[in-house]
Amino acid sequence: MPNAKADNQASILWTANDTPLSSAYDDTYYSKEGGREETGHVFLAGNGLPDRWRTMPDFTIGELGFGTGLNFLQTYHRFMATAPKDHRLTFISFEAFPMNPGAMIRALSPWPDLASLTRPLLAIWPPSAGWHTIPFEKAALHLAVGDANATIAEMPRKADAWYLDGFSPAKNPELWGEALMAAVFRNTKDGGTFATYTAAGWVRRNLEAAGFMVERRRGFGRKREMLAGMKNRHGDTAGSRAKEAE
Ligand SMILES: C[S@@+](CC[C@H](N)C(=O)[O-])C[C@H]1O[C@@H](n2cnc3c(N)ncnc32)[C@H](O)[C@@H]1O
Repeated sequence: MPNAKADNQASILWTANDTPLSSAYDDTYYSKEGGREETGHVFLAGNGLPDRWRTMPDFTIGELGFGTGLNFLQTYHRFMATAPKDHRLTFISFEAFPMNPGAMIRALSPWPDLASLTRPLLAIWPPSAGWHTIPFEKAALHLAVGDANATIAEMPRKADAWYLDGFSPAKNPELWGEALMAAVFRNTKDGGTFATYTAAGWVRRNLEAAGFMVERRRGFGRKREMLAGMKNRHGDTAGSRAKEAE
């Protein structure tokens, strides 16, 4: 894992259209073709949201890679607009290299309605290593600062849906490895789902080996395909079905 900076804060460059780019990973935090729209297509629609949280009073999302907070803020924004009044969202996110507050504000500046939700975040930003719980009106954000490969063992509850949002698998392979995908699967409720912007073959195989039923879907922007999938409700897994078929 690259040492993003001596103090473990991300070092950020900016593309011509002001999209944040990690200098350590040489990759952008969100799509240059529209970060907010990418969150909607890949992570919300990819996990069947908002429909699923309309019928579940206590919905939990896990995310690998908190980054700018865009996925969380867009999700919370949609949750506030679409979930029944008494429903609650728990969002558990993992981040090794938090951005500095100025970079986060700049990264979110294209969306003032989301930026206005950042106050509870900025109150503790940049967060120290370890777990933080940040309360929002209708949500709790649990943020683990450190390598997700280690901190996922302390995940406080299983997720109904996962956002797998590391940098490109070729540049950030440690956030897509077989052991971590297995830990994601263990930390998914039966019937839970995942979605990710990538369709890399080895990531798909790691997700299948973990036990997810995986399918390719239309990707966002110039990406032809993305992956989405489910943990079967009956504990049956893609791996066990393949064995039965042998
Ligand atoms: C594509 S960005 C995430 C974008 C984010 N979801 C957003 O809404 O802005 C990938 C993130 O994964 C983080 N990351 C990379 N390796 C990690 C690791 N081993 N553990 C935890 N986070 C990691 C990076 O620091 C970066 O913030």
